[in-house]
Amino acid sequence: MSENRVVLITGANKGIGLQIAKDLAGNGLTVLIGSRKLESGEKAATSIGERAHAIQLDVTDQASITAAAECIRKEFGRLDVLVNNAGIVGEFPDGTPFEERLKFNVPSQAPLSYIRSIYETNVFGVIAVTQAMLPLLREAPAGRIVNVGSSSGSLTLNANPEFEYRNVFGSAYSPSKAALSATTLAFAIEMEKTNIKVNVVCPGFVATDLNGHRGYRTVEQGARQAVKMALIGPDGPTGTFTDEDGTVPW
Ligand SMILES: NC(=O)c1ccc[n+]([C@@H]2O[C@H](COP(=O)([O-])OP(=O)(O)OC[C@H]3O[C@@H](n4cnc5c(N)ncnc54)[C@H](OP(=O)(O)O)[C@@H]3O)[C@@H](O)[C@H]2O)c1
Repeated sequence: MSENRVVLITGANKGIGLQIAKDLAGNGLTVLIGSRKLESGEKAATSIGERAHAIQLDVTDQASITAAAECIRKEFGRLDVLVNNAGIVGEFPDGTPFEERLKFNVPSQAPLSYIRSIYETNVFGVIAVTQAMLPLLREAPAGRIVNVGSSSGSLTLNANPEFEYRNVFGSAYSPSKAALSATTLAFAIEMEKTNIKVNVVCPGFVATDLNGHRGYRTVEQGARQAVKMALIGPDGPTGTFTDEDGTVPW
């Protein structure tokens, strides 16, 4: 494939997204560091080198998304790969006591505003960014979309009473990742007759700000499956849910 491919990674100023950007730059791609704070994106881009460029992108802000798509067309003229990586587990007002925070994961007690905000980023943000970037991706010789999901959103795993992490399946984060998997499949089905392949990956439990660095995997390990799916060739899969070990049940 041509070496002037361009990839946009959302939420790439830190964590798994930053590592995905580093790895794809290492593979010769031009990487666009989507960051809701431009300054953080610029810092991240500088740490990668000349193949990286920051772009302001808040996935919950349609004006920001539209401006990013216009900027990519004007400045780079193409987009080959989109990695929808930005995601949140929920943001709490400062000083929220721990017992209060625990209630947020209980479906019967979670404030609807909290649930909505997580879906806004993890699901609607992905749909909005994908819709905005698709005109560019359709023009690319081999468009790729990789969504960063989570096996914690697997309905098959969590429906099993023996599944050891079942208690994590709560009000919003895991269901939002289940919705992201469903959305991935919907886009994959729509794109079946095009050159665009759409897949969702799970990075595993990775030490990042998202989980207070409790994860046992490194960002290097967490980035691998997304990078692999970003670089698949014409015979590569579409409409799949995988992690480094293989297929994840939907
Ligand atoms: N870490 C894990 O164990 C794990 C497991 C399964 C799946 N995942 C998924 O992996 C992805 C990356 O997570 P991470 O662990 O690397 O977390 P992280 O270090 O907290 O990074 C999350 C990134 O998303 C960005 N972001 C949040 N809301 C945004 C918005 N509205 N617009 C644009 N960017 C936004 C953050 O930007 P700011 O710096 O501005 O906040 C940050 O760059 C997420 O989708 C997460 O659900 C992580």
